[in-house]
Amino acid sequence: MSGPQEETAHAAVVSGPTEETAPTAVAGEQETTAVAGEQGAAPAAVADERETAPAAVADERESAPAAVAGERETARTAVISGGSRGLGRLLVERLLADGWQVATFSRSANDFVKDTVAERPDHFIWESVDLVDRKALRTFVNSVARRFGGIDLLVNNAAVLNRQELFLTTSSRQVDTLLASNLAAPIALAQACARVMSGSGGGQIINVSSINAVRGYRGVAVYSATKAGLDGFSRSLARELGPLNIRVNSLVPGFFDSDMTTEVTEQNRERIARRTPLGRLADVEEIANAVLFLASPQSSFITGQTLVVDGGITC
Ligand SMILES: NC(=O)c1ccc[n+]([C@@H]2O[C@H](COP(=O)([O-])OP(=O)(O)OC[C@H]3O[C@@H](n4cnc5c(N)ncnc54)[C@H](OP(=O)(O)O)[C@@H]3O)[C@@H](O)[C@H]2O)c1
Repeated sequence: MSGPQEETAHAAVVSGPTEETAPTAVAGEQETTAVAGEQGAAPAAVADERETAPAAVADERESAPAAVAGERETARTAVISGGSRGLGRLLVERLLADGWQVATFSRSANDFVKDTVAERPDHFIWESVDLVDRKALRTFVNSVARRFGGIDLLVNNAAVLNRQELFLTTSSRQVDTLLASNLAAPIALAQACARVMSGSGGGQIINVSSINAVRGYRGVAVYSATKAGLDGFSRSLARELGPLNIRVNSLVPGFFDSDMTTEVTEQNRERIARRTPLGRLADVEEIANAVLFLASPQSSFITGQTLVVDGGITC
Protein backbone atom coordinates (compact mmCIF):
# COMPACT_ATOMS: atom_id res chain seq x y z
CA MET A 1 0.00 0.00 0.00
CA SER A 2 1.23 3.36 -0.73
CA GLY A 3 0.48 6.78 0.54
CA PRO A 4 -2.09 9.06 -0.97
CA GLN A 5 0.56 11.57 -1.85
CA GLU A 6 2.63 9.33 -4.07
CA GLU A 7 3.15 12.14 -6.54
CA THR A 8 5.74 13.63 -4.24
CA ALA A 9 7.26 10.37 -3.13
CA HIS A 10 10.94 10.44 -2.29
CA ALA A 11 13.17 7.72 -3.62
CA ALA A 12 15.86 5.61 -2.00
CA VAL A 13 14.91 5.21 1.62
CA VAL A 14 16.66 1.93 2.15
CA SER A 15 18.61 0.88 -0.88
CA GLY A 16 21.45 2.56 -2.67
CA PRO A 17 24.91 3.52 -1.53
CA THR A 18 24.19 2.91 2.13
CA GLU A 19 23.60 -0.74 1.45
CA GLU A 20 26.90 -1.10 -0.33
CA THR A 21 28.84 0.62 2.40
CA ALA A 22 26.84 -0.89 5.24
CA PRO A 23 29.23 -3.71 6.13
CA THR A 24 31.73 -1.29 7.67
CA ALA A 25 29.18 0.40 9.86
CA VAL A 26 27.30 -2.73 10.75
CA ALA A 27 30.41 -4.82 11.22
CA GLY A 28 31.39 -2.46 13.98
CA GLU A 29 28.23 -3.37 15.80
CA GLN A 30 28.08 -7.05 15.01
CA GLU A 31 31.72 -7.98 14.67
CA THR A 32 31.94 -11.58 13.60
CA THR A 33 28.27 -12.41 13.25
CA ALA A 34 26.06 -12.21 10.20
CA VAL A 35 27.72 -9.35 8.38
CA ALA A 36 31.13 -10.85 8.83
CA GLY A 37 29.71 -13.97 7.23
CA GLU A 38 28.67 -11.95 4.20
CA GLN A 39 32.16 -10.53 3.93
CA GLY A 40 33.72 -13.94 3.59
CA ALA A 41 34.10 -15.25 7.11
CA ALA A 42 30.93 -17.28 6.88
CA PRO A 43 32.12 -20.64 8.22
CA ALA A 44 33.43 -19.18 11.45
CA ALA A 45 30.42 -16.95 11.94
CA VAL A 46 27.98 -19.73 11.26
CA ALA A 47 29.89 -22.11 13.47
CA ASP A 48 29.70 -19.58 16.27
CA GLU A 49 26.00 -19.24 15.78
CA ARG A 50 25.52 -22.99 15.72
CA GLU A 51 27.23 -23.30 19.04
CA THR A 52 25.45 -20.47 20.74
CA ALA A 53 21.94 -20.66 19.30
CA PRO A 54 20.67 -23.86 20.94
CA ALA A 55 21.95 -22.78 24.35
CA ALA A 56 20.23 -19.42 24.07
CA VAL A 57 17.05 -21.09 22.94
CA ALA A 58 17.10 -23.59 25.77
CA ASP A 59 17.76 -20.88 28.28
CA GLU A 60 14.75 -18.79 27.24
CA ARG A 61 12.31 -21.46 26.17
CA GLU A 62 10.28 -21.16 29.36
CA SER A 63 7.19 -23.24 28.91
CA ALA A 64 7.50 -23.68 25.13
CA PRO A 65 6.39 -27.21 24.41
CA ALA A 66 8.94 -29.49 22.84
CA ALA A 67 7.79 -31.43 19.82
CA VAL A 68 10.22 -33.86 18.29
CA ALA A 69 10.49 -34.20 14.52
CA GLY A 70 8.93 -37.43 13.37
CA GLU A 71 6.79 -37.82 16.46
CA ARG A 72 4.03 -35.55 15.27
CA GLU A 73 1.08 -37.43 13.92
CA THR A 74 -1.04 -34.42 13.15
CA ALA A 75 -1.23 -32.13 10.14
CA ARG A 76 1.16 -29.23 9.64
CA THR A 77 0.45 -26.21 11.79
CA ALA A 78 0.50 -22.56 10.79
CA VAL A 79 0.32 -19.48 12.97
CA ILE A 80 -1.03 -16.52 11.00
CA SER A 81 -1.26 -13.18 12.77
CA GLY A 82 -4.28 -11.08 11.81
CA GLY A 83 -6.24 -13.87 10.14
CA SER A 84 -9.70 -12.34 10.47
CA ARG A 85 -9.60 -10.07 7.44
CA GLY A 86 -7.67 -9.18 4.30
CA LEU A 87 -4.58 -11.16 3.34
CA GLY A 88 -4.52 -13.00 6.68
CA ARG A 89 -8.05 -14.32 6.22
CA LEU A 90 -7.26 -15.57 2.72
CA LEU A 91 -4.15 -17.36 4.03
CA VAL A 92 -6.23 -18.98 6.76
CA GLU A 93 -8.79 -20.18 4.21
CA ARG A 94 -6.25 -21.54 1.77
CA LEU A 95 -4.13 -23.29 4.39
CA LEU A 96 -7.22 -24.89 5.96
CA ALA A 97 -8.31 -26.04 2.50
CA ASP A 98 -4.86 -27.56 2.04
CA GLY A 99 -5.19 -29.62 5.24
CA TRP A 100 -3.21 -27.43 7.64
CA GLN A 101 -4.11 -26.74 11.22
CA VAL A 102 -4.30 -22.99 11.54
CA ALA A 103 -4.11 -20.71 14.54
CA THR A 104 -4.75 -17.02 14.27
CA PHE A 105 -5.53 -14.00 16.37
CA SER A 106 -6.83 -10.49 15.96
CA ARG A 107 -8.28 -7.96 18.35
CA SER A 108 -11.88 -8.63 17.42
CA ALA A 109 -13.84 -11.58 16.12
CA ASN A 110 -15.98 -11.29 13.01
CA ASP A 111 -18.40 -13.64 11.26
CA PHE A 112 -15.59 -15.35 9.37
CA VAL A 113 -13.77 -16.19 12.58
CA LYS A 114 -16.91 -17.33 14.41
CA ASP A 115 -18.08 -19.48 11.50
CA THR A 116 -14.66 -21.09 11.01
CA VAL A 117 -14.32 -21.90 14.72
CA ALA A 118 -17.74 -23.56 14.55
CA GLU A 119 -17.06 -25.43 11.31
CA ARG A 120 -13.45 -26.52 11.85
CA PRO A 121 -12.97 -26.87 15.62
CA ASP A 122 -10.24 -29.51 15.22
CA HIS A 123 -8.22 -27.48 12.75
CA PHE A 124 -8.77 -23.85 13.64
CA ILE A 125 -7.95 -21.72 16.66
CA TRP A 126 -8.75 -18.05 17.03
CA GLU A 127 -8.09 -15.86 20.06
CA SER A 128 -8.41 -12.19 20.80
CA VAL A 129 -4.86 -10.90 21.19
CA ASP A 130 -3.49 -7.42 20.64
CA LEU A 131 -0.12 -7.13 18.91
CA VAL A 132 1.07 -4.68 21.53
CA ASP A 133 0.76 -7.31 24.29
CA ARG A 134 3.92 -9.36 23.84
CA LYS A 135 3.27 -11.60 26.83
CA ALA A 136 -0.10 -12.53 25.35
CA LEU A 137 1.59 -13.27 22.01
CA ARG A 138 3.99 -15.72 23.67
CA THR A 139 1.17 -17.34 25.62
CA PHE A 140 -0.83 -17.71 22.39
CA VAL A 141 2.06 -19.38 20.57
CA ASN A 142 2.76 -21.80 23.37
CA SER A 143 -0.89 -22.79 23.73
CA VAL A 144 -1.07 -23.40 19.97
CA ALA A 145 2.02 -25.59 20.11
CA ARG A 146 0.53 -27.62 22.96
CA ARG A 147 -2.83 -28.01 21.27
CA PHE A 148 -1.53 -28.85 17.78
CA GLY A 149 1.74 -30.54 18.79
CA GLY A 150 4.14 -28.08 17.17
CA ILE A 151 4.41 -25.17 14.76
CA ASP A 152 5.66 -25.44 11.18
CA LEU A 153 4.91 -22.00 9.79
CA LEU A 154 4.57 -18.48 11.12
CA VAL A 155 3.25 -15.72 8.88
CA ASN A 156 3.75 -12.35 10.52
CA ASN A 157 0.86 -10.75 8.63
CA ALA A 158 -0.93 -8.43 11.06
CA ALA A 159 0.09 -4.80 11.07
CA VAL A 160 -1.39 -1.40 11.68
CA LEU A 161 -1.18 1.62 9.44
CA ASN A 162 -3.57 3.95 11.24
CA ARG A 163 -4.25 7.32 9.76
CA GLN A 164 -1.59 8.41 7.33
CA GLU A 165 -0.10 11.64 8.54
CA LEU A 166 2.93 13.78 8.03
CA PHE A 167 5.91 13.05 10.22
CA LEU A 168 6.10 16.51 11.78
CA THR A 169 2.68 16.03 13.35
CA THR A 170 2.96 12.36 14.25
CA SER A 171 2.57 11.88 18.01
CA SER A 172 5.03 9.90 20.10
CA ARG A 173 2.17 7.63 21.05
CA GLN A 174 1.49 6.88 17.41
CA VAL A 175 5.18 6.12 16.84
CA ASP A 176 5.21 3.76 19.83
CA THR A 177 2.09 1.94 18.63
CA LEU A 178 3.49 1.42 15.15
CA LEU A 179 6.85 0.19 16.44
CA ALA A 180 5.21 -2.13 18.96
CA SER A 181 2.62 -3.56 16.56
CA ASN A 182 4.58 -3.78 13.33
CA LEU A 183 8.09 -4.54 14.54
CA ALA A 184 8.32 -5.64 18.18
CA ALA A 185 5.29 -7.93 17.86
CA PRO A 186 6.53 -9.86 14.79
CA ILE A 187 9.90 -10.22 16.49
CA ALA A 188 8.25 -11.61 19.64
CA LEU A 189 6.13 -14.00 17.57
CA ALA A 190 9.15 -15.13 15.56
CA GLN A 191 11.09 -15.81 18.75
CA ALA A 192 8.28 -17.76 20.39
CA CYS A 193 7.62 -19.81 17.23
CA ALA A 194 11.32 -20.40 16.48
CA ARG A 195 11.78 -21.83 19.97
CA VAL A 196 9.05 -24.35 19.23
CA MET A 197 10.36 -25.04 15.71
CA SER A 198 13.91 -25.55 16.97
CA GLY A 199 12.68 -28.48 19.03
CA SER A 200 10.88 -30.16 16.15
CA GLY A 201 13.32 -30.18 13.28
CA GLY A 202 12.67 -26.77 11.75
CA GLY A 203 10.02 -24.58 10.17
CA GLN A 204 9.45 -21.36 8.32
CA ILE A 205 8.86 -17.74 9.14
CA ILE A 206 7.44 -15.31 6.59
CA ASN A 207 7.35 -11.65 7.48
CA VAL A 208 4.87 -9.56 5.50
CA SER A 209 6.58 -6.29 4.71
CA SER A 210 5.53 -3.55 2.28
CA ILE A 211 6.80 -1.66 -0.74
CA ASN A 212 7.09 1.25 1.69
CA ALA A 213 10.16 -0.56 3.00
CA VAL A 214 11.96 -0.19 -0.31
CA ARG A 215 10.59 3.10 -1.67
CA GLY A 216 9.77 6.29 0.17
CA TYR A 217 6.25 7.68 0.32
CA ARG A 218 4.95 10.73 2.14
CA GLY A 219 2.70 10.17 5.14
CA VAL A 220 3.96 6.73 6.10
CA ALA A 221 7.50 7.33 7.40
CA VAL A 222 7.16 5.41 10.65
CA TYR A 223 5.17 2.58 9.07
CA SER A 224 7.92 2.37 6.43
CA ALA A 225 10.57 2.21 9.15
CA THR A 226 8.82 -0.74 10.78
CA LYS A 227 8.58 -2.62 7.48
CA ALA A 228 12.21 -1.91 6.54
CA GLY A 229 13.16 -3.10 10.02
CA LEU A 230 11.26 -6.30 9.39
CA ASP A 231 13.22 -6.91 6.18
CA GLY A 232 16.54 -6.48 7.99
CA PHE A 233 15.28 -8.73 10.76
CA SER A 234 14.42 -11.44 8.21
CA ARG A 235 17.90 -11.42 6.69
CA SER A 236 19.84 -11.65 9.93
CA LEU A 237 17.42 -14.12 11.46
CA ALA A 238 17.79 -16.36 8.42
CA ARG A 239 21.52 -16.58 9.10
CA GLU A 240 21.00 -17.43 12.74
CA LEU A 241 18.16 -19.91 12.26
CA GLY A 242 19.35 -21.57 9.05
CA PRO A 243 21.45 -24.09 10.98
CA LEU A 244 18.28 -25.01 12.87
CA ASN A 245 16.51 -25.70 9.55
CA ILE A 246 14.27 -22.68 9.96
CA ARG A 247 13.85 -20.57 6.85
CA VAL A 248 13.04 -16.87 7.18
CA ASN A 249 11.90 -14.63 4.34
CA SER A 250 10.20 -11.29 3.79
CA LEU A 251 7.30 -10.85 1.41
CA VAL A 252 6.84 -7.36 0.06
CA PRO A 253 3.35 -6.81 -1.38
CA GLY A 254 2.42 -3.96 -3.60
CA PHE A 255 -0.94 -2.26 -3.15
CA PHE A 256 -3.97 -4.54 -2.87
CA ASP A 257 -7.52 -3.85 -1.74
CA SER A 258 -8.26 -4.51 1.93
CA ASP A 259 -9.63 -2.72 4.97
CA MET A 260 -6.16 -1.24 5.44
CA THR A 261 -6.38 0.65 2.19
CA THR A 262 -9.98 1.83 2.13
CA GLU A 263 -8.88 5.44 2.58
CA VAL A 264 -6.99 5.50 -0.70
CA THR A 265 -8.94 7.56 -3.21
CA GLU A 266 -9.93 6.40 -6.67
CA GLN A 267 -7.61 9.02 -8.10
CA ASN A 268 -4.66 7.57 -6.21
CA ARG A 269 -5.58 4.02 -7.21
CA GLU A 270 -5.45 5.13 -10.83
CA ARG A 271 -2.12 6.82 -10.23
CA ILE A 272 -0.67 3.67 -8.66
CA ALA A 273 -1.96 1.58 -11.57
CA ARG A 274 -0.39 3.99 -14.08
CA ARG A 275 2.98 3.74 -12.35
CA THR A 276 2.86 -0.04 -12.18
CA PRO A 277 4.43 -1.74 -15.21
CA LEU A 278 1.67 -4.36 -15.20
CA GLY A 279 -0.86 -1.51 -15.21
CA ARG A 280 -3.02 -2.56 -12.28
CA LEU A 281 -3.16 -3.19 -8.54
CA ALA A 282 -2.61 -6.65 -7.08
CA ASP A 283 -5.39 -9.09 -6.44
CA VAL A 284 -4.98 -10.29 -2.86
CA GLU A 285 -4.92 -13.85 -4.24
CA GLU A 286 -1.66 -12.99 -6.02
CA ILE A 287 -0.09 -11.90 -2.75
CA ALA A 288 -1.34 -15.05 -1.00
CA ASN A 289 0.10 -17.16 -3.84
CA ALA A 290 3.53 -15.71 -3.16
CA VAL A 291 3.25 -16.30 0.60
CA LEU A 292 2.18 -19.88 -0.01
CA PHE A 293 5.06 -20.39 -2.45
CA LEU A 294 7.51 -19.28 0.25
CA ALA A 295 5.75 -21.65 2.67
CA SER A 296 5.95 -24.58 0.25
CA PRO A 297 8.66 -27.16 -0.44
CA GLN A 298 9.08 -25.47 -3.86
CA SER A 299 11.05 -22.75 -2.08
CA SER A 300 13.08 -25.10 0.09
CA PHE A 301 16.44 -23.45 -0.71
CA ILE A 302 15.21 -19.86 -0.33
CA THR A 303 15.96 -18.10 2.92
CA GLY A 304 16.95 -14.61 3.99
CA GLN A 305 15.34 -13.11 0.90
CA THR A 306 12.90 -10.33 0.22
CA LEU A 307 10.36 -11.31 -2.41
CA VAL A 308 8.72 -8.26 -3.96
CA VAL A 309 5.26 -8.87 -5.45
CA ASP A 310 4.21 -5.47 -6.73
CA GLY A 311 3.61 -5.63 -10.47
CA GLY A 312 6.95 -3.90 -10.89
CA ILE A 313 6.13 -0.57 -9.23
CA THR A 314 9.45 -0.55 -7.35
CA CYS A 315 11.63 -1.77 -10.19
N1 LIG B 1 -3.26 -3.76 1.79
C1 LIG B 1 -2.17 -3.39 1.14
O1 LIG B 1 -2.23 -2.77 0.07
C2 LIG B 1 -0.81 -3.77 1.68
C3 LIG B 1 0.32 -3.41 0.94
C4 LIG B 1 1.59 -3.76 1.41
C5 LIG B 1 1.70 -4.47 2.58
N2 LIG B 1 0.59 -4.80 3.29
C6 LIG B 1 0.78 -5.58 4.51
O2 LIG B 1 0.03 -6.78 4.37
C7 LIG B 1 -0.38 -7.23 5.67
C8 LIG B 1 -1.87 -7.50 5.66
O3 LIG B 1 -2.52 -6.31 5.31
P1 LIG B 1 -4.11 -6.25 5.06
O4 LIG B 1 -4.31 -5.12 4.11
O5 LIG B 1 -4.63 -7.59 4.73
O6 LIG B 1 -4.62 -5.79 6.51
P2 LIG B 1 -6.11 -5.64 7.10
O7 LIG B 1 -7.13 -5.96 6.07
O8 LIG B 1 -6.16 -4.30 7.76
O9 LIG B 1 -6.15 -6.79 8.22
C9 LIG B 1 -5.28 -6.69 9.31
C10 LIG B 1 -5.48 -7.89 10.22
O10 LIG B 1 -4.60 -7.72 11.35
C11 LIG B 1 -5.41 -7.63 12.55
N3 LIG B 1 -4.81 -6.62 13.41
C12 LIG B 1 -4.61 -5.30 13.11
N4 LIG B 1 -4.11 -4.68 14.18
C13 LIG B 1 -3.97 -5.62 15.16
C14 LIG B 1 -3.52 -5.56 16.50
N5 LIG B 1 -3.10 -4.43 17.06
N6 LIG B 1 -3.51 -6.71 17.22
C15 LIG B 1 -3.95 -7.87 16.68
N7 LIG B 1 -4.40 -7.98 15.41
C16 LIG B 1 -4.41 -6.85 14.67
C17 LIG B 1 -6.80 -7.22 12.07
O11 LIG B 1 -7.83 -7.60 12.99
P3 LIG B 1 -8.35 -6.60 14.16
O12 LIG B 1 -8.47 -5.23 13.55
O13 LIG B 1 -9.67 -7.17 14.63
O14 LIG B 1 -7.33 -6.63 15.22
C18 LIG B 1 -6.89 -8.01 10.78
O15 LIG B 1 -7.17 -9.37 11.06
C19 LIG B 1 0.07 -6.14 6.64
O16 LIG B 1 1.30 -6.51 7.21
C20 LIG B 1 0.27 -4.92 5.76
O17 LIG B 1 1.19 -4.02 6.31
C21 LIG B 1 -0.65 -4.46 2.87
